Amino acid sequence: MKDSVCQVEFHVPLQDGYFRIGLKTGWEGFVPGQFGMLEVPRQDGVLLRRPFSFARQLGATTEILYKVVGRGTAALSSVSMGQSLRLLGPLGHGFKMKEGEGDCVGVAGGYGIAPFLEQAIQLAKKGQKLILFYGARTKKDLLYIQELNDLKVKLYLTTEDGSEGEKGRVTEALAKVYKHSAPKVIWSCGPVGLLHAVQKWALPRDVSCELSVEETMGCGTGVCLGCVVKDTEGRYRRACIEGPVFPGERLEF
Ligand SMILES: Cc1cc2nc3c(=O)[nH]c(=O)nc-3n(C[C@H](O)[C@H](O)[C@H](O)COP(=O)(O)OP(=O)(O)OC[C@H]3O[C@@H](n4cnc5c(N)ncnc54)[C@H](O)[C@@H]3O)c2cc1C
Ligand code: FES
Repeated sequence: MKDSVCQVEFHVPLQDGYFRIGLKTGWEGFVPGQFGMLEVPRQDGVLLRRPFSFARQLGATTEILYKVVGRGTAALSSVSMGQSLRLLGPLGHGFKMKEGEGDCVGVAGGYGIAPFLEQAIQLAKKGQKLILFYGARTKKDLLYIQELNDLKVKLYLTTEDGSEGEKGRVTEALAKVYKHSAPKVIWSCGPVGLLHAVQKWALPRDVSCELSVEETMGCGTGVCLGCVVKDTEGRYRRACIEGPVFPGERLEF
């Protein structure tokens, strides 16, 4: 983990308030699910860094996919190519690869898609394929579809309004596809309701699952206690250093 000043190599607006930003980190890579604390330009009242997952490593450049939701991300969206931002990372624990036969399944909600791009890239390098259930509110919230198709990811898309893929929840699609069988592992990233639904589906079926939580984070290094989640023993875990990816059986929702 390093705190570095990284030059912005690209910054591309996508549909509906989403952006891809590439930062020259010089890293060789990261574990999908790991994240960084990124400086956002100081504007009125914006003092903290913001946590973002990494979407992929392109040579020496690390890509982040983000959505403008508030002051920090709005300020970030004004950053130009060539500008420099501080980035602390890679932080936390990412998804673990699981050896052996069987399907490797991802379940993503909204911008929880980010780690699955790099996960698909790393699986493809091992000659394996990602099966991805990807749900969003509308078609406009589905990102990286071309890239995932290029990587031959088997995609099951759902939207709440039916504007793309099946209408409904992504976990309904998962349950339908695996009605009579089970994958060897499920990795999930997205809103807490989605993680809970994945946990409720996987655990009774003895399917190994890992869940990436998105708690609000102040420091990213275990100091501020702003990111705690409760485990099944009633203990509080710091998502930034013990997660953000946790074994599904350990989390209490
Ligand atoms: C480990 C981790 C990985 C993340 N990865 C990504 C990513 O890849 N792409 C991306 O776009 N965002 C990601 N986020 C969320 C991102 O950090 C927040 O969207 C960002 O901090 C919001 O900052 P803001 O100043 O724009 O919004 P604020 O002004 O701080 O808040 C605006 C609104 O967003 C809500 N909000 C703020 N933070 C979060 C959060 N963490 N989860 C849910 N709601 C939140 C607030 O409650 C408020 O309603 C991640 C968060 C974590 C913890
Ligand atoms: S973000 Fe500060 S302890 Fe986790």
